[in-house]
Amino acid sequence: MISEERTFVAIKPDGVKRGLIGKIIDRFETKGFKIVAMKLLQVTPELAAKHYEEHQGKPFYNRLVNYITSGPIVAMVVEGYRAIESVRHMVGCTDPVKADVGTIRADFAQVMEYNAIHASDSTESAAREIAIYFKPEEIYDNWQSMLEMITYDQERSGV
Ligand code: CMP
Repeated sequence: MISEERTFVAIKPDGVKRGLIGKIIDRFETKGFKIVAMKLLQVTPELAAKHYEEHQGKPFYNRLVNYITSGPIVAMVVEGYRAIESVRHMVGCTDPVKADVGTIRADFAQVMEYNAIHASDSTESAAREIAIYFKPEEIYDNWQSMLEMITYDQERSGV
């Protein structure tokens, strides 16, 4: 059996305001990932400071906090085979100009400041970010996704 991994994903305020929630979620569902937690929320300056603590002091930090608090985000926990690396690959390079065509940032965004989506970049950030946005009881893993069996765990499905 192949072990699952969890990662944190957020559709940022520009993605929500532009009506891209469905299109972005569709990519992860179509890939076969399982969404085990999701909510629409307004990021407060305190929450933004926690999430982006590694960027504190950088020249773009204040703009980043103003932007992420400028409207609601959709926060998610996405689960699947090597989900952290795989989701980052689907999201694409931070700068949408340099992101490969076909990635979410290349297809849905133009500039680094408003790049539509965030995804954890390592096992440590995934654990940290999931804990910032979700209580353990808000994560629902006690259901069977048909896709998880046929996309990466065929042994379990008996295929
Ligand atoms: P994200 O993946 O959410 O992580 C930190 C965010 O800061 C990043 O996406 C960008 O939106 C933003 N960011 C990173 N580097 C820069 C930069 N050089 N200039 C402006 N914004 C940046």
